[in-house]
Amino acid sequence: MQSKVVINGFAARHYDELLDIFTLWWYPRFIKNALLRDTKIGIGEKVAELGVGNGRNARILSKKVGSAGKIIGFDISQDMLKRAREKCRGYDNIEIHEHDIRTPYPDDYRDYFDSALIVFVFHGFPDEEKKRILENLKMVMKPGGKFYVLDYQQVEFEKQNFLYRTFMQRLECPLAIEFLKYDIDTEFEKFGFKINHRELYFRGLIQLAEFVLEK
Ligand SMILES: C[S@@+](CC[C@H](N)C(=O)[O-])C[C@H]1O[C@@H](n2cnc3c(N)ncnc32)[C@H](O)[C@@H]1O
Repeated sequence: MQSKVVINGFAARHYDELLDIFTLWWYPRFIKNALLRDTKIGIGEKVAELGVGNGRNARILSKKVGSAGKIIGFDISQDMLKRAREKCRGYDNIEIHEHDIRTPYPDDYRDYFDSALIVFVFHGFPDEEKKRILENLKMVMKPGGKFYVLDYQQVEFEKQNFLYRTFMQRLECPLAIEFLKYDIDTEFEKFGFKINHRELYFRGLIQLAEFVLEK
């Protein structure tokens, strides 16, 4: 099944700007509120961002973790990595690394992260790869660590309005539509990530789910 979650070229170099224009500047305000108001990421935390993109989320969270904290962003797209490094220059507590989140992280990160987040990335993987993402993340997170998934909320696709269905069919990948049926709470619990809180946005079509790792 085709995934659109790996982005290269023009769309990668201008990902943030294109998203702002496409959402008529609704997205920048939304993401700031979601990350600053609705996550419990705090001062001094070490945070992993899976699929860091242009680094927008890392920059938003930079102040929240302060100089004693650190945000480490992982991505595989060379264009995304280059842009993220440019945009995050001057943020001393952000690091950007090339890493495929489906594979094990370097040993230095074992039990290292207090929190992790994945923003509009998780839906783009087949179920087997989703399991690998969780398995590998679990190894680098501290027990009790928080994992935030900002993504589409599970809804009945056929019951949604024309605009939503057209967006999902035309602009998203079939995996995103599949994700609407994914039992996220049950699947995550198999890897020790227990649902703790869920914030819904945009008439319940988008979720920020907070999982706590028990290991
Ligand atoms: C839709 S973009 C979202 C970017 C960012 N999370 C944001 O909210 O601005 C998806 C990102 O996931 C990255 N990605 C896709 N597959 C990946 C993988 N296997 N490992 C690491 N990053 C991946 C892509 O390169 C891209 O930067």
